[in-house]
Amino acid sequence: MTTDSTPKVFNNPRKKEGFNGRVCSIVGVGSYVPERVLTNAELEKTVETSDDWITSRTGIKERRIAAANEYTSDLAAKAAQNALENAGITADQIDLIIVATITPDMLFPSTACLVQQKIGAKRAAGFDIEAACSGFIFALEIAQQFVMSHTYETVLVIGAEKLSSIIDWTDRNTCVLFGDGAGAAIIQARPDSHGLLTTCMGSDGSKGELLSMPAGGSRCPATPDSVASRLHYLRMDGKETFKSAVNAMLSAAQEVLRRCQLEISQIKCIISHQANLRIINAVSDRLGATEEQVFINLHKYGNTSAASVAIALDEAVKAGRVQRGDLVLLVVFGAGLTWGAAVIEW
Ligand code: UT7
Repeated sequence: MTTDSTPKVFNNPRKKEGFNGRVCSIVGVGSYVPERVLTNAELEKTVETSDDWITSRTGIKERRIAAANEYTSDLAAKAAQNALENAGITADQIDLIIVATITPDMLFPSTACLVQQKIGAKRAAGFDIEAACSGFIFALEIAQQFVMSHTYETVLVIGAEKLSSIIDWTDRNTCVLFGDGAGAAIIQARPDSHGLLTTCMGSDGSKGELLSMPAGGSRCPATPDSVASRLHYLRMDGKETFKSAVNAMLSAAQEVLRRCQLEISQIKCIISHQANLRIINAVSDRLGATEEQVFINLHKYGNTSAASVAIALDEAVKAGRVQRGDLVLLVVFGAGLTWGAAVIEW
C-alpha cells in the first residue's frame, strides 16, 4: 500500500526469450452489450442534466442497459461465446474461467461458475476477481501466469458488468457515467507466436474512499437503514478520481513502454479505460500519441468498468484497427485504487 500519489508499478517483465519461445497469446476476443440504449436525451428527463454537459465533460452520448432479467453472467456468457467463435475453439477446451467484475450476479457462487454452466465449459475451473475498472488487465496477468507455467492450456478471461444495478439513478454526478456490457479473451501459450509482451499492475488502498460502494459487505450488511441511506449504490469523488486516473494511467503506460523499449510512435493502437474522454486525451497527449493511435468507444457505452477495455479491444480488432503484428497498448484505472497496463504484439 502506498501513502503518496505516486503509482507503484511492480517490475515483473515478461519477455519472449524468457519462456523458450513460448508466448502468452490472445487467440480470440469477443464482446456483448445489451440491446437497450439509454441516451443523454433520456437522462435529461430524469435528472437535472443535459446532453451538452455530459458530452463536453465526459464524451459519453449513450450507454447500454441490461434487461431486468439479464444478469452479469448472461452478458459474460454471450461475450465468451463470441470469443470462442473468434478463436475457433469449443467450450469443452477451456481449462479455467476468470471473471473480473464488481457486479457479480450474487456474492456467491462466483459469476465464473455461473458462466461455466451457461456456456457448457464442463472441464473448466472458475473464479472471480475484483479490481474494479482495472479487472480485465489484472485477470489477463493471472491467466498469463497459468498458461506460461503450463498449469492450464486454455484460459477464458472475461470483464463483465451490470453497473446499472448499483447506480443511484437520482444522482446526476454518477448516473450519467456508467453502462453495462462484457468483453472476453481466450488465452493460450503458443510457441513462436505473438502475444502479451508485458503487463503491470498497481494498487493504492489509501485512496479507496474515492470510489466505492459502502454497503453490502461484512462492514455494512444490508439493513433497512443502509437501504434508506442509499449505501448500496456506487459513490465517487469525481474530481479526485480524475486526477489519480491521469497520473496512474500515464505512469503505468510509461512503465510498460520502458520495459519493452518502445517509443509511443511504435504503438499502433492505444486502448485506455473508457471512463472519460478528457482522461483518455490527457494521458495520450502526455504520452505524445496522435489522435489516430487512440481507440475510443465510450460515446456508445460510457464506463463499463471491468468490461471497458475488453469491449474496446474486441471492437478495435473487428474494425481492423488492430492487425496481426501491430503493437497495442492497454491502460486501465479503477477503484481500489487500482491501475495497470499491457503491451500486446497482436
Ligand atoms: O472508472 C473509474 C474511473 N472513473 C473516472 O476516472 C471518472 C473520473 N471523473 C470524471 O470523469 C469527472 O470528474 C466527472 C465527469 C465525474 C465530473 O466532471 P468534472 O469536470 O470533474 O465536474 P465537477 O465534478 O467538478 O462538477 C462540476 C459541476 C458541479 O456543479 P457546481 O458544484 O460547480 O455548481 C456539479 O454539480 O457540474 C455539476 N454536475 C453536473 N451538471 C449537469 C455534476 N454532474 C452533472 C451532470 N449534469 N450530470
